Amino acid sequence: MQKFIIEGGKSLRGELPLQGSKNSSLPIMAATLLSCGESTLHSCPQLTDVYAAARILNCVGCKCSFSGNTAVIDSAVIEKTEISEQLMREMRSSIIFMGAMLGRAGECVVSVPGGCELGPRPIDMHLAALGKMGVDIHESGGRIICRIASGRAKGAKISLAFPSVGATENIILCAVTADGETVINNAAREPEICDLCGFLRKCGAEIKGDGESRIVIKGKKQLHGCEYKIMSDRIVAATYLSMVAAAKGEIILTNACVPETEPFLSVLEQTGCSIYMSDNRIYLRSGSRLKAVRERIRTMPHPGFPTDAQAVLMAALAAADGTSIFEENIFDCRYRHADALIKMGADIQVLGKVAVVKGREKLHGANVQATDLRGGAAMVIAALSAEGASEITRICHIDRGYEKMEYAVRLLGGEMRRV
Ligand code: UD1
Repeated sequence: MQKFIIEGGKSLRGELPLQGSKNSSLPIMAATLLSCGESTLHSCPQLTDVYAAARILNCVGCKCSFSGNTAVIDSAVIEKTEISEQLMREMRSSIIFMGAMLGRAGECVVSVPGGCELGPRPIDMHLAALGKMGVDIHESGGRIICRIASGRAKGAKISLAFPSVGATENIILCAVTADGETVINNAAREPEICDLCGFLRKCGAEIKGDGESRIVIKGKKQLHGCEYKIMSDRIVAATYLSMVAAAKGEIILTNACVPETEPFLSVLEQTGCSIYMSDNRIYLRSGSRLKAVRERIRTMPHPGFPTDAQAVLMAALAAADGTSIFEENIFDCRYRHADALIKMGADIQVLGKVAVVKGREKLHGANVQATDLRGGAAMVIAALSAEGASEITRICHIDRGYEKMEYAVRLLGGEMRRV
């Protein structure tokens, strides 16, 4: 098992090009199933989750190959519509292959994604919506067997009780080749939804309203392949900005999606860092000591503060001047990184969905275990800003979402090794 060894206390300085978005790449890779031809995806990040998605595509008969950050996916022939339990378990978000496979073949067998590190992840909204689109769904021994009697889903009016990202994506994926019009009310508005729709439109789909709460899709009989550049990762941007804010120094992020990162930036600015944005660049310079964030940091669906940036900002605020309060409104178990930060000297009290972070003068190095993707990244940030050495184990979580994080940190002048 690999681990990261980090020597903290060095300020960070430099320019970093941002990787493509993981949360865009995964649904877009699933969407290539609908295109019945070859698609080329640029800026596809080299991540274990992306490779897991490629294994799913290859297993159902697609031909998926990578050259650096370009993925070429040929989905002309589909040989089967069943995805093994093992492949489904490799990646929590494998459930988005359900909508794509139904849109392509009118049937699929997938598994219930198990409980995960953020707590149980129910898929009731996905199933209810697909049911409304004419999909017969049976569960048997953890397998979900889906079939559309006519072979083609029918358009439907769907109102989501909560703007779930995954459910919105599954509905879009099933609807673009459905018979008739689908309307999604209370749809998720995350930028990655717009990126998925951008790809699908380039493949010939007719979608309006993505980025808003009401999305309207007119089903097409068939889509075609295309060439597409995946948007940059706003959560990776939030991570490196929090890192430099915590460790002190300055950074220029290039290839950034500035408006999409704004809900995070507007909170980070309150810590006293100087932040400037232009076209696709974000510049940050941190002052002597971060200030606590005065207003409660509430995670909310986009355009609210992103839940995926909660842990990394918490790591930075652990050594800020004053008390910051987080309120996690999206997932039940998203403070699992707090114990590791406490081991590094942080003063954090978790009370249900609220976490009270009293800034300490300094953190100290410790041996900790990554609990989940963003929680693991938070531990790297704390370790880099701390005094002394830290060891982080179970870094497979971090590799799910960050391309070679240790290279990026070393590029900025930090000391971080993978052993
Ligand atoms: C996606 C992102 C993840 C991000 C999250 C929220 C990907 C691959 N993952 O996850 O990084 O943290 O959005 O921005 O894009 N829920 C139900 N029933 C359902 C579906 C969801 O109760 O049928 C609940 C979930 O348990 C959770 C909340 O809704 O509490 C939000 O989930 P959702 O927006 O679906 O997140 P994901 O798509 O899983």
